[in-house]
Amino acid sequence: MPYIKLNTPIPGPQSVALQKRRAEAVPKGLGQANAVAVASAQGSLVTDVDGNTFIDLACGIGMMAVGHNHPRVVQAIQNQVAQAVHAGALVVNFEGYPALAERLNSLTPGDFPKKTLLANGGAEAVENAVKIARAYTGRAGIIVFEGAYHGRTNLTMSMTSKYGLFKKGFGPFASEVYRLPFPNPYRPPAGMDAEGWTDWCCWNLENALVAQIDGSALACIVIEPVMGEGGFIPTPARFLRKIREICDRTGAVMIADEIQSGSGRTGKMYAIEHSGVVPDLVITAKSLGAGVPVSAVTGRAEIMDAPHLGGIGSTYGGSPLACAAALAVLDTLHEPGFMDNARTVE
Ligand SMILES: Cc1ncc(COP(=O)(O)O)c(C=O)c1O
Repeated sequence: MPYIKLNTPIPGPQSVALQKRRAEAVPKGLGQANAVAVASAQGSLVTDVDGNTFIDLACGIGMMAVGHNHPRVVQAIQNQVAQAVHAGALVVNFEGYPALAERLNSLTPGDFPKKTLLANGGAEAVENAVKIARAYTGRAGIIVFEGAYHGRTNLTMSMTSKYGLFKKGFGPFASEVYRLPFPNPYRPPAGMDAEGWTDWCCWNLENALVAQIDGSALACIVIEPVMGEGGFIPTPARFLRKIREICDRTGAVMIADEIQSGSGRTGKMYAIEHSGVVPDLVITAKSLGAGVPVSAVTGRAEIMDAPHLGGIGSTYGGSPLACAAALAVLDTLHEPGFMDNARTVE
């Protein structure tokens, strides 16, 4: 059955007209990969305003693990809209927030008591994870890696690697961020194979604790178990184990940024599960809400409880609508066989 349907040149006339309005009304700095204007989306397909239908390989940047407009998610959103869109977790309680927290506490790796803080987007969740790690350890230092992407707020932009695209002209950046080489198995330096490169990066991680930051000043190491914006690169399990070992030894918090790699996209709920390594905190966003803004920091209860009363939270974070969408997404991801396809796709 043909899925792609093209009625006009691409972009079509309606898309071109909308693009002109965007160019006049929206700042140039907001990048855009494609000039097609979407009118509707279903499953893996998007239809543009000219009636052309495409297979959506971008999915709004890794957002649609359950597909566009999954009927269960749409139903949950519609039901929730009829009940209450906003309540404010800083003001009152409502069932969705603890329900989603309980689900994420049970789904994230690690057999220990956990707690979850909900937020709106990926960068906000990364900021919160770092705040929580700093409150817990009483230290400031953050280790991140070359190629990493963690967001566009000042702290997360400072943690993000690529300069020209994401950081140019936006400094000064946050301090206490230490960036180390990442063992990209596809691009070892000349004269080294992938294994040798991983060995060197493990050695360098140890060396950084002498050359760059003492373990006693290190709050956290933040790692994408599969690097997303940096090129879809699985982090070697051996490197994840090394990070775990160093965090155990120094008392620093190991944070897995699963914003892009999580929510079933690698065939397991979280990509780090393929390695057997258990991080202290896991950050989830993107596909968790299937388009409704929601993100989460989940982890060891004693770490999550470190910030003082009132020190974390936001106006919208974990809204009833977001929680309803995310709970429906999690139900869908855990339908028998749902993640199997991701395990077999090459
Ligand atoms: C690994 C990772 N961390 C953080 C972010 C930032 O998320 P957001 O764009 O929702 O702020 C992204 C977004 O692409 C990401 O891929």
